[in-house]
Amino acid sequence: MKKIGIICGGKSAEHEVSLQSARNIFEALNREIYEPILIGIDKNGQWHLNDAPWLLEQSEQYTGDLVTLIPQHAGTLIQPKTFKDEQTVDVIFPILHGPFGEDGTVQGLLKLADIPFVGTSVLGSAISMDKDVMKRLLHEADIPIGKFFVLYAHQRIPSFSDTVEKLALPFFVKPANMGSSVGVSKVHEEREYLSAVSKALCYDSKVLLEECIVGREIECAILGNEAPQASLPGEILCSHEFYSYEAKYRDEHGAVLAIPADLDASTVTAVQELALKTFQTLCCEGLARVDFFIKPDGAIIVNEINTMPGFTTMSMYPKLWEASGISYSDLIHRLINLAIERYTREKTLKTSYES
Ligand SMILES: Nc1ncnc2c1ncn2[C@@H]1O[C@H](COP(=O)(O)OP(=O)(O)O)[C@@H](O)[C@H]1O
Ligand SMILES: [Mg+2]
Repeated sequence: MKKIGIICGGKSAEHEVSLQSARNIFEALNREIYEPILIGIDKNGQWHLNDAPWLLEQSEQYTGDLVTLIPQHAGTLIQPKTFKDEQTVDVIFPILHGPFGEDGTVQGLLKLADIPFVGTSVLGSAISMDKDVMKRLLHEADIPIGKFFVLYAHQRIPSFSDTVEKLALPFFVKPANMGSSVGVSKVHEEREYLSAVSKALCYDSKVLLEECIVGREIECAILGNEAPQASLPGEILCSHEFYSYEAKYRDEHGAVLAIPADLDASTVTAVQELALKTFQTLCCEGLARVDFFIKPDGAIIVNEINTMPGFTTMSMYPKLWEASGISYSDLIHRLINLAIERYTREKTLKTSYES
């Protein structure tokens, strides 16, 4: 029996989405081989053992014992105040989205704690979270991306006409590090410009201004470590102007997932190849969802990668694998095995100089 620590919640704006995914994973874990140990991170960033609001049917309340992981303690969760041991877990599934969870920070802690964990490690998580660094690396690998430029909080905001000259109208403004469309705006006219920039700057001191790409939104799921596989692509059929937070989570009719997407065979192959290349260029491991635009002329553009995609039973990532013959609980099982496989492989590497 392996103890699987499910870390969920977290400080990011995607706290609730994470809880929903964690709840579904908790319920789907095969109890014949796995025992789930829940670790809920509250909005202040504190870790609570055996606690998440849905577990206690309370909202916003975390009352479980405070725990943490510390370096080289073989996966033992300890109480931060007394250093008393609480529980030892064998593998961690960090089902966290956005900053402080999907960006390499938690992954660094898990590496120091010397414990296998599901998903991409420190470097891949960090570069995939930052849309500016991600896009520059994709461009360098000849992967098609849209036109964009970066603005930092300390810089002068370029005039509206200069931005329109570079990107045309409409254009998108978004925080470099965020997800779930939080802080993303579509700018159609001058009066929307400054408020879009200030909104994005609420979430990150670096924002991207991007040309608007008109096309279908197609997503492809990747699974594996050194020999990853791509699922059939799916499509987001969105009833809003773009796939906003509202369309994703608030409006139940905001979007429909078409699985698999209605694409011809050669486009499917091209999307899968680009998804795999994107995954490998960005040093990803375990799982990721690569999101594309397909323009009316057939051109395929990568929008972004998500190293910890939404993982509710209704989410695109597990649904795409389901369509390819891998059930939700088998998918979790495979991800746990991939975590152990990577950990075991890395253990064979020398970590200090030996002659
Ligand atoms: N350059 C763009 N052109 C067209 N639509 C865009 C563009 N950038 C973002 N969008 C729309 O906004 C949504 C969220 O943007 P995205 O870059 O994927 O950020 P997030 O990481 O928050 O999902 C996309 O799914 C898409 O609908
Ligand atoms: Mg997105």
